[in-house]
Amino acid sequence: MDGLSRRGVLLGGSALGAVGALGIVAPEAWSWSATGSAVGASTGANPATVHDGAADKVVRALFERGEVDRVNELLADWTHNDQALPARLPSDLHAFLESARRLPSWADQAKMARYFDYNATRGLYIAVAYGMGSGMMSCVIPREAKAVYYSAGGADMKDRIAKTAKLGYDVGAKNAYGPTGRMIVTCVKTRLTHAAVRYLLPKSRHWNAAAPETKPISQADIMVTWHSLATFTHNKIKAWQVPISAAESSSFLHIWQVTAHMLGVHDEFIPATWASANAQSRQVLDPILAPSKEGIELAHILTSLAADFDLGLSRTAFRSFTRYTLGDQIADWLEIPRQPFWDQFVESGWPAFVKFREGTMTLPLPPQGYWMFDEFLRQGALFYLGEGRRINITMPTGNNPN
Ligand code: HEM
Repeated sequence: MDGLSRRGVLLGGSALGAVGALGIVAPEAWSWSATGSAVGASTGANPATVHDGAADKVVRALFERGEVDRVNELLADWTHNDQALPARLPSDLHAFLESARRLPSWADQAKMARYFDYNATRGLYIAVAYGMGSGMMSCVIPREAKAVYYSAGGADMKDRIAKTAKLGYDVGAKNAYGPTGRMIVTCVKTRLTHAAVRYLLPKSRHWNAAAPETKPISQADIMVTWHSLATFTHNKIKAWQVPISAAESSSFLHIWQVTAHMLGVHDEFIPATWASANAQSRQVLDPILAPSKEGIELAHILTSLAADFDLGLSRTAFRSFTRYTLGDQIADWLEIPRQPFWDQFVESGWPAFVKFREGTMTLPLPPQGYWMFDEFLRQGALFYLGEGRRINITMPTGNNPN
C-alpha cells in the first residue's frame, strides 16, 4: 500500500486533502458541525480563534508577579486527583485549579474503567501507535512542530518526550480519572504549561519569524493533536485487526473526550462519536499535514533519542516503524531514509506479531500476564526518558534560545 492510500485509510478514510502551501488551516476553514459534538449544539465560536482565557489570565499574572518558579515548586508534590492543593498557592491560581480539576458532568467512571481493562491487554499496540505514529505525526503538523521546536522543550527533547509520555501513560492507568489516578492533575498542569507557552512564544523572535500566527495553541490546534493521538490510534487498532468490541471502542473515545475537556477544550468542539471524530479529523488534520524545517529537525532528534545508548538499533527500528505506521509520503517528508531490509521486516513482521499475540490471548495465560509485561516496558521507557527521576510537568519559564 503506498503512503497516500495508507494515510487515507488510517486517518479516517479520506484521500490526501489539499495541503496548503504553508500547511495552515485558515480560521474560516472550521465548518465541522457541532451537532456531532459532545453537547450537540454550537455557540458559533470558531475554535481557531478560541484559546484558554481562564488559564491564560492566571498564568500571565504569575509571570508578571514573578511567581512561576515558586508555583512550579509548590505544585511538584501535587500528583493525585483527590489530593488537596498545596498550601500557599496564589489565590487566583488556587481558584483556577479548583475549578479546572472538576470533571464534566457527563464523565462516566464505569466507561473509563472499561478502557483500562482494554488497555491492560492491548496497551502495547496503543503505546506503539502513540509513540511511533502520533509522536512522529506531530512533526508534520507545522504549527505544533514550530511551537515545540521554539519553546523551551525544543532544547531538551528527551525531557519533553518524557513529560508527554507521562500523559500517554496516565491516561491508560487504572482509575485514570478516579480519586487515586493522576490524569486530572496531568491535564490541569498541561493546561498551565500551554498557557505559559502562549505567554512566552510570542516573545521569541525565532518563533515569530517562522510561525503563521501570533498566538499559539488554539482549541482547533488542540483538536488537531487530539486526532493525531485518539482518532489515529483507534483507526490503527482497527487497521491492525486488533479485536475491539463496540463497548471498548466507545470507552476509548470516552476517555479521550474527557481528556479534551480537561485540557480546556469546549464541549462543542469535542466529537460525540468516532464517525463524527473521523469527519472532523478529515477536515482539520489531513489537509494541514506538511513538512517544515522544524518538523524535519524534530523527527531527526526523536528517532535518535536512544541511539547513543543502544548503538543505533532503536533509530533503525523507529525509522522503519514510522514509515510503516505513517506511510511513505510522511516518512519522505521527514527525510527518513529507506532501510529496505528493516522496512520490509516491520511491514511483514508487525501483522504477524499482532496475529501471534492475539492467538495467544485464547491460551490459559491470564491477561494479567500481558499487563505485567507491558507495564514493565512502559515503566522502563518512562524511567529511561525521565533519567530515573520522577516526571513532573512544569510551566516553562523561557523559550528555546537556539
Ligand atoms: C507541553 C500534551 C496539544 C504545544 C505539553 C505537555 C503535555 C502536552 C503533556 C507537557 C510536557 C512538557 O512540558 O513538555 C498535549 C496534548 C495535546 C497538546 C495531549 C492535545 C490533545 C498541543 C498543541 C501544541 C502544543 C496543539 C501546539 C500547537 C506544546 C508545547 C509544550 C507542550 C510547545 C511545551 C514544551 C516545553 O517547552 O516544555 N503538551 N499537548 N501542544 N505542548 Fe502540548
